[in-house]
Amino acid sequence: MSEKQIDRFVPDEELNKQKEIANKVRELLGTIYPQGYTPCAFVHSYGCQQNVSDGEKIKGILHSMGYQMTDSPENADFVMYNTCAVREHAEQRVFGNVGALKNIKRRRPNMLIGVCGCMSQQESVAKRLKSSFPFVDIVLGTHVMHKLPEIVYTKLTSGKRVFDISGEDGVIAEGLPILRDGTSKAWIPIMYGCNNFCSYCIVPYVRGRERSRKSCDIIREVKEVVAAGCKEITLLGQNVNSYGKENGEISFPELLYKLNELDGDFRIRFMTSHPKDATHELIDAMASCDKVCKHLHLPVQSGSNRILEKMNRKYTVETYLEKIRYAREKMPEISFTSDIIVGFPNEQDEDFEATLSLIKEVGYDLLYTFIYSKRPGTPAAEMIDEITDERKGERFRTLLAVQEEIAYKKLSDMKGKIFKALCEGEGRVLENSLCGRADNNVMVEFENTGKQKIGEFVNVKITSSKGYVCLGEAL
Ligand code: 5AD
Ligand code: SF4
Repeated sequence: MSEKQIDRFVPDEELNKQKEIANKVRELLGTIYPQGYTPCAFVHSYGCQQNVSDGEKIKGILHSMGYQMTDSPENADFVMYNTCAVREHAEQRVFGNVGALKNIKRRRPNMLIGVCGCMSQQESVAKRLKSSFPFVDIVLGTHVMHKLPEIVYTKLTSGKRVFDISGEDGVIAEGLPILRDGTSKAWIPIMYGCNNFCSYCIVPYVRGRERSRKSCDIIREVKEVVAAGCKEITLLGQNVNSYGKENGEISFPELLYKLNELDGDFRIRFMTSHPKDATHELIDAMASCDKVCKHLHLPVQSGSNRILEKMNRKYTVETYLEKIRYAREKMPEISFTSDIIVGFPNEQDEDFEATLSLIKEVGYDLLYTFIYSKRPGTPAAEMIDEITDERKGERFRTLLAVQEEIAYKKLSDMKGKIFKALCEGEGRVLENSLCGRADNNVMVEFENTGKQKIGEFVNVKITSSKGYVCLGEAL
């Protein structure tokens, strides 16, 4: 490992210092609130799984400072919004929700309000929060999350608002406390940041450069959660296929083989895979690791080579389809999901038609569809766009309708098959039912006969489907 990469890890001394400050905050809170009262924190994460995973660390740090979690901002002593900047709509929602806290804070003046995550990492957003939202106490960017104890301590002792969006390339902080949302599933980041600079995307600017955790740290964390009863691990990264490339670690397929060898009845998912880096080795590893789910989320974004080039995606429809074909050959039962952006600057009818034909050819089980959102500071924000919002809206609705037909057909084809599902909770379609995600990522529902337990695997034979849910019988 080079010097630069070693620098990426937050030193133990710094992490220990933050732990000590967390204890000081705990003592301080004891003097602020009446004896016997435990202050409550409400943490809400917007956006992707990476953010949800960060949110679990924020909860862990707040817990270490003496807060217990609550599920409503109304009775919280600390509200933290962990924000997403990928689309403008998400940002507006955050500003609305932060604004709504003003009234709650009027009734509870001791309440602390914090904003963190990708939105706050942007200078323009931090400035706006500073000037137009005077009741926001702390703003922290994505690179200083581990400093939360110090930031809260400074606020509590000085009474002054604290804004810290320092750092650009990003760091890795190991060993932060984590308060996970559940025990049967765990999000485990394997790398942070992104180097791809897709022309529409804000992520590389707010999450810094790609940096991988050490494989020994990942393996240790997986062992810990499995020992604690976890049945499904999702490995996270903006592009998991870049894992280990910058620091000489093992490759992502090698990591899958290593994790697959660990003892325990658990399964492994991962996201997201950039198609340009999804290699045959990755697909071979998926095929031969029995713990790895046969589901690949491979965001294609567009079915037009002209648009893919403008997006700086570095693959073509042909190379993408070759990977899909190879994966199907190795794993006939594999399911694919994808992300599509409709209305990229100057997307023409023929570009959109190409996207429709690609989704028909692949036959995705599920698509995450987005209307292009202009992100200031990205190259696409400077591109000429003569396509009206109405036209983009029409295309979006067409895409949904075409995909719905494809997905319903795929789901109805599952009739008679048996899937292993991880039971998650009560079903929504059938009465007295339970539901869970199958190995291939499809949601299945089955009658609750009293024999199945939430958090355990259940084999389900599919009998029919309704909307995006397969219905079946637990075996
Ligand atoms: N506008 C619309 N969708 C976007 N995404 C990323 N940036 C934008 C944007 N500016 C979508 C991509 C990505 C997913 C996480 O969000 O499809 O894969
Ligand atoms: Fe954004 Fe592209 Fe990086 Fe994904 S790979 S986070 S779309 S820049």
